Order: sequence, then C-alpha cells, then structure tokens
Amino acid sequence: MKVQILDKTFVPYISQDEIEAAVKRLTHQMNEELKDSCPLFVCILKGAVFFFADLMENIDIPHNMTFFRISSYTGTQSSGNVRAAKPFPRPVEGRTVVIVEDIVETGNSMHFLRTKLLELGAKEVRIAALFFKPGKCKKELTIDYCGFEITDEFIVGYGLDYCEQGRELPSIYQLAPEDGADEGSNG
Ligand code: IMP
Ligand code: MG
Repeated sequence: MKVQILDKTFVPYISQDEIEAAVKRLTHQMNEELKDSCPLFVCILKGAVFFFADLMENIDIPHNMTFFRISSYTGTQSSGNVRAAKPFPRPVEGRTVVIVEDIVETGNSMHFLRTKLLELGAKEVRIAALFFKPGKCKKELTIDYCGFEITDEFIVGYGLDYCEQGRELPSIYQLAPEDGADEGSNG
C-alpha cells in the first residue's frame, strides 16, 4: 500500500521480515568477529536508532555503546559538508569502534567520522550500515556489516525520515518513481 508523506508518495520496498533477517545475520557476524575486542558501538542519531536497538538486542559479547549526532543534509540535499555539533563523547584510544549508521549514501558522513576516530587514536574503525547506495557513494569505504545494497532512490521508514517524517513506518518505503528526486532528510 502507498503512503503519502507531505508532498511525496512512497511505495513498499523492504519488509519487516527482511529487515529482521538482515539484523540477525549482521549480529551473528559481529558476535563472531568481535568477541575478543570489546567493541565500542556508536549509534548515529537520529536515523539509526531503530536499527541500533534491534542490533543491540542480539549482541551477546562484552561491549560499550555511545551515541553521536552528525549532519550532512541541509534542507533537501546532502550538502557534502559534514558537521559534528559536539566533541566525540568517549575516549577511543586503542579501541575497536563500530559505527552504526542507517544508510550510507555519498559516504561523506562515514568518511568524516572514520577519519576523526582514527585521529583520536582508535585502533580500528568498522562500519555497520543497514542500507548502502553504491551508485551514489563517492568515497573509498568498506561497509563491514551491510544489511542491503540498494538502488539510488530515496527511502523512508524504520527510523529513516523524509523531512523528519516517516520514521515510525515499521518497514521500508521507496519514493514512487513518478514522484521524482527532490529529496530531504534530517538524519
Ligand atoms: P552520506 O554522508 O551522503 O552518506 O549521508 C548519509 C546520511 O544521509 C544518512 O545518515 C541519512 O541520514 C541521510 N540519507 C541518505 N540517503 C537517505 C535516504 O534514502 N533516506 C533517508 N535519509 C537518507
Ligand atoms: Mg543519518
């Protein structure tokens, strides 16, 4: 069924069951690969909160967690100008840090934060992203834990927003083809 958010129409794209299966697969991989490193998981606000909560429910290895806000969208487009309003909240020296992001598009945000964490002395920075748009990515980035590689269309739901709306949708919706490419997100 279609949903209308402000001026845009969205159509169903990825189901709750598919998301759940991807989350299970990624946590299984993390529980295996990170069991000896007591990783610091960083939830990128706000879009990744649902993904982060579901991941953490299935993580059974020692770890720490923190939350961080970065923004790259100004109004309706990814500006390419990534900013963090505050200093990173935890020491990361010598640690394995896993950034948990909703979606990697241009890659600017993850490139920015990864560089910053390595400068702060992190031993290793891994990236977990529920969605990745390889067709739009401009940076050399490895997504260590990737839920879905998707096409370039704008998506909402499960925490992802269009102009701060649509986060509550339990599954993922994609901008209807006839609705064009004028997109907007606030992280
Ligand atoms: P990047 O720096 O271009 O990789 O931007 C990533 C950020 O842009 C994500 O954390 C989201 O907040 C936002 N974003 C990118 N694509 C979408 C989308 O399709 N829907 C909603 N938000 C998006
Ligand atoms: Mg975001």
